[in-house]
Amino acid sequence: MSTNILQGKKGIVFGALDEKSIAWKTALKIHENGGQILLTNAPIALRMGKINELAEMVNAEVISADATSNEDLEALFTGACEKLGGKLDFILHSIGMSPNVRKGRAYNNLNYDWYHKTLDISAMSFHRVMQTADKLDVMNEWGSILALTYIAAQRVFPDYSDMANAKALLESIARSYGYRFGKSKKVRVNTISQSPTNTTAGTGVPGFSAFIDYAEKMSPLGNANAEDCANYIVLMFSDLSRMVTMQNLMHDGGFSSTGITEDVVKIILDKEEN
Ligand code: NAI
Repeated sequence: MSTNILQGKKGIVFGALDEKSIAWKTALKIHENGGQILLTNAPIALRMGKINELAEMVNAEVISADATSNEDLEALFTGACEKLGGKLDFILHSIGMSPNVRKGRAYNNLNYDWYHKTLDISAMSFHRVMQTADKLDVMNEWGSILALTYIAAQRVFPDYSDMANAKALLESIARSYGYRFGKSKKVRVNTISQSPTNTTAGTGVPGFSAFIDYAEKMSPLGNANAEDCANYIVLMFSDLSRMVTMQNLMHDGGFSSTGITEDVVKIILDKEEN
């Protein structure tokens, strides 16, 4: 559905790698709803991904930035304000990577250098993004900043390994910075806790197809897909959500409030009978 609820708003979308990425679908939806975007990703992702295809579709400029580098982020924000012709109304942080998960290291066998990287890329980068935006004073009043998270921050999903810790830190950063940004600039900061979604980052988690299947059966509405997430982000960037801040917003078809479902009971009973 396309509306004009983002008409006149401009901002940065981090993390569109390919057409499966949540950030990719979000960029399309922001464009469809009248918003103006600048796209960014890590230099290696720009070389390997397809961001230029997306940039053409949404009429966006692209600036590369490693979200773990202060210098890159400073150059990104300065360049974005120049190219977009003013301050920003929204930022989407859609970034996640764990070398331990990628290389199949279990939680009781972590490589600590990689653990640092996981936290730096997947969580501290959110603080870096906001601190840089704050210091350079690039946010408009009543702007909206979002990061994407997963319920493994609250509940144990063993194969999610050190990413669970990164997501817990990410959600905590949203609250701590949300307080400051709310007071100083009336900027809101939230995380969206998304259902398991079939993307490059998602499918890197061992046993991911089981995550998706289980969550689908445990959610009264079924799993929220990347497009549903993009629509929710549009709502959160619009003025319709202007008093929502410092929240971890569950976008999961009801998964987080469900104890068990008939679907799961049936599978267990069928198994017992066989
Ligand atoms: P994706 O693989 O398409 O996106 C991850 C992005 O992070 C990529 O574009 C990658 O280039 C970027 N990235 C990695 N290191 C970076 C760095 N140093 N600097 C800048 N960018 C960097 O996968 P997806 O699923 O769209 O992930 C987006 C967000 O959604 C992540 O935070 C992920 O944890 C979160 N999420 C994903 C779920 C899923 O099941 N796919 C479920 C819940 C949350």
